[in-house]
Amino acid sequence: MFKHIHLTDTHLVEAGRALYGIDPAWRLRQAIDSINREHPDAGFAIITGDLAHWGEPAAYQALREELAALTIPVRLLIGNHDDRSHFVNAFPEVPTIEGGYVQYAFNDGAMRHVVLDSNEPGVSWGVFCETRARWLADELAASGSQPVNLYIHHPPFPVGIGAMDRISLREPGPLREAITPHLRRIRHLFFGHLHRPMAGSWLGVPFSTVRGTNHQVALSLTQTERVPGSLEPPQYAVVLAGLEGSVVHLHDFADASPRFPL
Ligand SMILES: [Fe+2]
Repeated sequence: MFKHIHLTDTHLVEAGRALYGIDPAWRLRQAIDSINREHPDAGFAIITGDLAHWGEPAAYQALREELAALTIPVRLLIGNHDDRSHFVNAFPEVPTIEGGYVQYAFNDGAMRHVVLDSNEPGVSWGVFCETRARWLADELAASGSQPVNLYIHHPPFPVGIGAMDRISLREPGPLREAITPHLRRIRHLFFGHLHRPMAGSWLGVPFSTVRGTNHQVALSLTQTERVPGSLEPPQYAVVLAGLEGSVVHLHDFADASPRFPL
């Protein structure tokens, strides 16, 4: 089994500031301590966007400093709260494609991991344009018969939380068209944005997401105007992938309730 870690929506701000009453860097540090202690054998950790809350250079500097403590490799992608140019300045080693979009692919075990960019400056919803879709189609064609995991910030479909569905991926057609010829070997779609644990399938592809490391979105299937915030416990996911399938464990890493033999 290959193991990796899925974190999302770290929403870092400049060092020393709080966001919704919590220091996002402290929360990320708790997650990193947990990963280092409990999952040092994971192949990598990936953070599916909203790395920084306001996208300012100081927030990416704080992120870089916190991530230096992680003992496994980390992969990053950007969300609607991120600023693409500030992110690229702070993490110049992260690959980009034509147009400056943060998209790249890498291997871990037998799997091809494909990282996508749904950021559109100035808006909260996601965009996946023809340039990004063309790169994805070429990447999927080039990876032959390899099983694929996809990572993107915005979900490309409504999830029933109206206030979030208004800011999901708009016009998912180019994404859908790029992946349709390859659906049988796309093993999983991971996204962020929703700040909630969630699993299901889209076009027959299993998906999951997880709470953020700082603040959350409450489960409200009736509230459609304001996003219902909450301070439910933070999580990361531990993904175990084998030849026949995958398991996604959701870990409330800050939980301090007693442990005892059952
Ligand atoms: Fe977010």
